[in-house]
Amino acid sequence: MRTEYCDTCGNGGQRSTPFEISAGEEHQLNDSQLYARINEMRIDVFTLFPTMFLGPLQESILKRAQERGALTLLLHQIRDYAFDRHQMTDDVPYGGGHGMLMKPEPIFRAIRTIVGPEQIPIVLLSPQGRTFNQEIAQELASEPRLALICGHYEGVDERVRRHLVTQELSIGDYVLTGGELAAMVVIDAIARLIPGVLGASDGAQADSHALGMLEGPQYTRPATYAGWDVPGVLRSGNHAAVARWQRRMALRRTLERRPELIEDADLSPEDLALIAELEQELSEPDEA
Ligand SMILES: C[S@@+](CC[C@H](N)C(=O)[O-])C[C@H]1O[C@@H](n2cnc3c(N)ncnc32)[C@H](O)[C@@H]1O
Repeated sequence: MRTEYCDTCGNGGQRSTPFEISAGEEHQLNDSQLYARINEMRIDVFTLFPTMFLGPLQESILKRAQERGALTLLLHQIRDYAFDRHQMTDDVPYGGGHGMLMKPEPIFRAIRTIVGPEQIPIVLLSPQGRTFNQEIAQELASEPRLALICGHYEGVDERVRRHLVTQELSIGDYVLTGGELAAMVVIDAIARLIPGVLGASDGAQADSHALGMLEGPQYTRPATYAGWDVPGVLRSGNHAAVARWQRRMALRRTLERRPELIEDADLSPEDLALIAELEQELSEPDEA
């Protein structure tokens, strides 16, 4: 079990109760900051709902990132930076409109307290941002430090966008209730790219999108299931033949499902020859 305290946070002069992370134990949560120590890269998340992050942080890759000391993830309760009597973090929009907007002061104050003058990417999760993809995940994974701001309600005051954040990221063309789930998607995609997080055997380099195309079909045991066989080449023990088959199938799958990806993919002369062959194959009507 590991307990982390944050020394940088103002929090009205009070120290927050630490968030303890340990597998299979109940956590004593409060409404303040929650800390999960993971290393190398540091991500500060600013949210009104820090407890939403607890499940994902303690499972699978994010748990492993923490155990391997590859990532430090700090969760900051924005409400702790609203110093008015009622700790208000939202208010009605000027000019009318539906719902409430997140006020600028607590967000500015939280970022200034935690990030200070350091120049780091300050990302607002927003349906109006650049659409998040593997390339952006790679880009962000190479940063030593990153801040993520989660909006809620009807979003955030425009001054946060204009004068505080350095970029806005969307996880797709749909609207979520808050930025928390989007932040978790971004954190997960980044964490698995940090060196040392994935083992050599499940390296991220072969994943779909990592090389600008989709991964081909994969099989595991049994060799025959319900009369369906695993392709013989995968059981042949011939590594060169397996690699050729995998490359061919990745190209085929990409041509079938996401042909636009092929245009920007890094292709060898052998790939181009394979693509010509596959295009011919795919244009022929099925015999069945
Ligand atoms: C209900 S949404 C607000 C949408 C806002 N009124 C608009 O039209 O742009 C509340 C918050 O959820 C988050 N959010 C919603 N959809 C998102 C998406 N597709 N990607 C990233 N964040 C999203 C943002 O942080 C946003 O501030």
